[in-house]
Amino acid sequence: MTLHKLALIPGDGIGVDVIDAAMTVLRSAGERFGFGLETETFPWSCAYYLEHGTMMPADGIDTLRGFDAIFLGAVGWPETVPDSVSLHGLLLPIRKAFDQYANIRPHRLLSGVEGPLKAEGFDILCIRENTEGEYSGAGGRVHQGKGNEVAVETSVFTRLGVERILRFGFEQARARRKHLTSVTKSNAQKYSMVFWDEVTRELAAGYPDVTVSHMHIDAMAAKMVMAPQDLDVIVASNLFGDILTDLGAAIQGGLGFAASANISPDRANPSMFEPVHGSAPDIAGRNIANPIAAIWSGAQMLDHLGEGEAAAAVLAAIETATAQGIGIRPGLHSTDEITTAIRAALEA
Ligand code: IPM
Ligand code: MN
Repeated sequence: MTLHKLALIPGDGIGVDVIDAAMTVLRSAGERFGFGLETETFPWSCAYYLEHGTMMPADGIDTLRGFDAIFLGAVGWPETVPDSVSLHGLLLPIRKAFDQYANIRPHRLLSGVEGPLKAEGFDILCIRENTEGEYSGAGGRVHQGKGNEVAVETSVFTRLGVERILRFGFEQARARRKHLTSVTKSNAQKYSMVFWDEVTRELAAGYPDVTVSHMHIDAMAAKMVMAPQDLDVIVASNLFGDILTDLGAAIQGGLGFAASANISPDRANPSMFEPVHGSAPDIAGRNIANPIAAIWSGAQMLDHLGEGEAAAAVLAAIETATAQGIGIRPGLHSTDEITTAIRAALEA
């Protein structure tokens, strides 16, 4: 029997609730499809920070390196630890250290979920660059607190980084409906975004079967509301992809449905799977968080681990539940009820 070694980082708030829920579903999938999940849980979180002064131990990255995948809940508890500290101490360093450059976020309406738009159906795959761009971390502050204070934060776009994320997007488009939309803001940002557009055109020549559109981020924001059905694969920089995927989550019915995979495509390092939503302190531990985003992310993880059949079954089980109205709106069902319904559908 194949055994997959998973590092679990439930993190903060509802991260704990949804990882718990998702693991019960993934374990059922393992029983049905004949693979095992060996897990080790790491308590790295804001609570851990308050006790140890760091979000994870100094050898945290090395510890994670030995796992087949990382399953993360959510990070952040701004009442006690500033987000700029907690995220730069855990989530963002993992993405960078393991070169998880492709952040894959699917946006579509699950059966039974209505969403806020009139659009009847859409199926968008957002490919977000995940290691550089606006999240490069390059910058600094001088004269703090004085009248002449300066803060600089530099976006970094490398040929390596831009080429590989676009190539990844082209490959995804090729496996889907063969349409790619590259999102920039090259009318205003004349160096980095013009460069991105150029690389898109260069690579497009090698994918004659994929049609390519170029859109500015502002126009894309409108398009995702007005005509999301026209979109297939979207490729965007780190910050643009971040913003568009919260919009994507909104049009698919809310953050409770938005899954995400941080993929390290060459497989030299573990990839990380996490729902798009945050820790939601206001509803943490109350058995009301929607676990679907985490369970869907878990399905992405199974797929990445080579358990494609199990991944498809988990996704089908989610949709069997939502088609029956389970978990389709906040407050309708508890975390446990949604999880139980999905497990039952998986085991049926
Ligand atoms: C996300 C989150 C993170 C990001 C935050 C928490 C740093 O919003 O995964 O979308 O901006 O990448
Ligand atoms: Mn985000």
